[in-house]
Amino acid sequence: MDLNTFNLYLFGGTGDLSNRKLIPAIFRQETLGNINNDSEIIGLGSRDISVDDYTSMVQESLTKHFPGFNENDEAWKRFSKRLSYIKIDINSKEDWKNINNIPTNKAVVYYLATPPNLYKQIATCLKENNLIQDNCRVVVEKPIGTDLESAEDINNSLSAGFNETQIYRIDHYLGKEAVQNLLALRFANTIFEKSWSNSAIDHIQITVAEDLGVEDRGGYYDETGALRDMVQNHLLQILCLIAMEPPVSIQSESVRDEKLKVLKSLAPFTEDTIALNSVRAQYLDGISKGEPACAYLDENGVDPKNNTETFVALKLEINNWRWSGVPFYLRTGKRMNSKSSEIVVRYKSVPHNIFSKEAALKPDQLVLRIHPDEGIDLKLNTKQPGVSGYDLEELPLDLNLHDYHELGHQDCYERLLLDVIRGNPSLFVRRDEIEASWKWIDNIINLWKSQDVPMEEYISGGWGPSNADLLLKRDFRSWKNGSSKKSK
Ligand code: BG6
Repeated sequence: MDLNTFNLYLFGGTGDLSNRKLIPAIFRQETLGNINNDSEIIGLGSRDISVDDYTSMVQESLTKHFPGFNENDEAWKRFSKRLSYIKIDINSKEDWKNINNIPTNKAVVYYLATPPNLYKQIATCLKENNLIQDNCRVVVEKPIGTDLESAEDINNSLSAGFNETQIYRIDHYLGKEAVQNLLALRFANTIFEKSWSNSAIDHIQITVAEDLGVEDRGGYYDETGALRDMVQNHLLQILCLIAMEPPVSIQSESVRDEKLKVLKSLAPFTEDTIALNSVRAQYLDGISKGEPACAYLDENGVDPKNNTETFVALKLEINNWRWSGVPFYLRTGKRMNSKSSEIVVRYKSVPHNIFSKEAALKPDQLVLRIHPDEGIDLKLNTKQPGVSGYDLEELPLDLNLHDYHELGHQDCYERLLLDVIRGNPSLFVRRDEIEASWKWIDNIINLWKSQDVPMEEYISGGWGPSNADLLLKRDFRSWKNGSSKKSK
């Protein structure tokens, strides 16, 4: 069986995720010559359209979402021949019969690019219609459920037909080069590991800030909120990669075993700590990217009664030897000052300052930038040039990955899709990880309700509510706001 050759069945084949992300990602691999000849892409959707109509729709979305797309290129000629379309109303028993002749000699990928509330039904129908074989995989996107119970329910339906090794749960942050680089930084170098613990680290910050608001996803977002939309998945996955113990190997199970241990070591919030160590807030109107921007409650599809947060900040602890006493501060929000995702590792101050008391001796700081300008920036104290005394200044050792590699067009979905086809689950989330993170998140949501933790407000275009600053100020610390600038 040739596993690099595939049939990709795209449920939701005419939808937004397919158009904006999946089709452009596979097409780019086509332009690079990475798609084997006999591979096919089959769009599935409820609309009764012909293959030619579907091909035109794909062409249209590539024109919009694939920079430099040209319908006369050989790549499009090859790609368009791979396309076909199957009309399927998932409630119709008859329609399910339209999917047949599932090949046995190549990888078969069922990608559920549909609203998550359809995962269960599609998984069940795939099983009932005998469409699952050993060479099949199923791909689902976050959010997998809205709490532990619903996540278990979806996982149970997937597991009824597929083995865990055939289930690929996407967290697109794991497809980002800079996120994968966290493992390389920690486990392909010796200099960090010795100091990667409470012996040298004062605290760690993880910020994923977005400048956009909820855009046209008000309806979905209002039912979800920042904690479920970003923290349960992207931020906790980053936290796992930062905090985990060295895995035995880079093989998927070793890495996932270590991530799971981190999730299980997260100290649960309690009635006494929830109001002190968590902040939730909604954006008000303001100026975003130079333009007036409306308040969250004025966005389409938003119901004030839902009281949904667009910003979360948490102070959390990991109950294990390595991290005992080291706070992790996490925050994410929409309509913040800029799109910037980074991890800041603040080291402890030197135990004894031999320089003059006036010398500006700042604690070392390692910044791992995910966005923008993927890279690593280590801030160190150095002596200012001069003939008198020791005046110190903080200067960066700044590694910008863009200086060495062309990262411009690559999208995380390219790597993730190829990994599904190759059968490599390392960058996907295992069932127990999803369920452990929901358990921890559910507790926060319940406490927010039972303890009436107030919904704060913040101005669009800022860095979040003042109480998020207070979360660190109280500990004599402060957030690093904004991305590190590349040194010249
Ligand atoms: C998605 C969230 O998972 O991640 C969105 O649902 C968010 O609300 C997006 O905007 C952010 O992803 P990225 O890659 O643009 O940082």
